[in-house]
Amino acid sequence: MASNKSLLILPGDGIGPEAMTEVRRIVDWMETNRAVKFDVDEDLVGGASIDKHGIPITDEVVDKAQNVDAVLLGAVGGPKWDNLDFSVKPERGLLRLRKDLELYANLRPAICFDALVDASSLKPELVSGLDIMIVRELTGGVYFGEPRGIEDLGNGIRRGINTQVYTTPEIQRVARVAFELAKKRDGRLVSSEKANVMESGVLWREEVIKIHEAEFPEVELSHMYADNAAMQLVRAPKQFDVIVTDNLFGDILSDCAAMLTGSLGMLPSASLGDVDEHGRRKALYEPVHGSAPDIAGENIANPIATILSYAMALRYSFDMSEEADLIETAVKNVLGSGMRTADIMSDGMTKVSTTKMGDIILRELDKISG
Ligand code: IPM
Ligand code: MG
Repeated sequence: MASNKSLLILPGDGIGPEAMTEVRRIVDWMETNRAVKFDVDEDLVGGASIDKHGIPITDEVVDKAQNVDAVLLGAVGGPKWDNLDFSVKPERGLLRLRKDLELYANLRPAICFDALVDASSLKPELVSGLDIMIVRELTGGVYFGEPRGIEDLGNGIRRGINTQVYTTPEIQRVARVAFELAKKRDGRLVSSEKANVMESGVLWREEVIKIHEAEFPEVELSHMYADNAAMQLVRAPKQFDVIVTDNLFGDILSDCAAMLTGSLGMLPSASLGDVDEHGRRKALYEPVHGSAPDIAGENIANPIATILSYAMALRYSFDMSEEADLIETAVKNVLGSGMRTADIMSDGMTKVSTTKMGDIILRELDKISG
């Protein structure tokens, strides 16, 4: 079986490796049952890399990531590395990957599975059928802006500085991704910033309007201040189709949207860059949840977000939407049959381990594909 599909797996820390073990079984399943072979390589990121190499990601791993079709990442971080200097914390490994691969468009779907409607903190009627896509700018803004740092002003006074900065191309390219997505979905885009108090927000709004008029007039565009967007997300989330926003607001709004769905343990994400001269789009896929060190190693974590991240990789990097659909349907069916990991457990359901959830999803894949 020839393969032209390369995948770099970076399990990372905490529950990352356990969840990734279940993904690897699905990759194997694809090979056996769908005759698609992936060249899979695995390496270290985050705390796991710090322990071995003293830094959260090596140049060699970044280089590998640059040269594969897709990177699949588990999670990074944990209390063991909390006291390290900021520049070598596990999170820097992830930030470096995003920055070096120029993964500027972060797609974070918030979908409420029917079977989990009751797990949301909002009333069922507010979230049932919820299907939002947040597009977060991922390589600019206050996360990376210069100047930054902590200055000593003397007399025991210090000053912490970060800079919110956006250029027109940075805004335009992420806006295009969001408009394209809106076009394929419900045709509605909300752009979110704080144009009432920030110049970078004024520029953001002006540039989004220009792209709209010039390239996507058929999409319905509206603008919402980020604080209002946070409020509207918990008041009436179904008013949204696609939201496009900057790095920091996107970080916050996507956590908020994620929780509407009942569990962070369910949500995948894709981070995309530009298409290169070979037609390949740089891409990294990862669950929205973190490394959950408190439950790591106990075989109780929910592997679904990582499995769905692999499904997103199939859809966006490998043009395998049929296989992506299969995985998503299998997950839906398994939830529908009452199987739950601890994080989404509720009365009358069957509690299963990480491994068992993997087993059941594989069995369901056998069933629906055969
Ligand atoms: C996320 C996380 C990261 C971020 C951390 C781990 C650096 O919160 O992906 O949302 O702030 O971007
Ligand atoms: Mg976050």
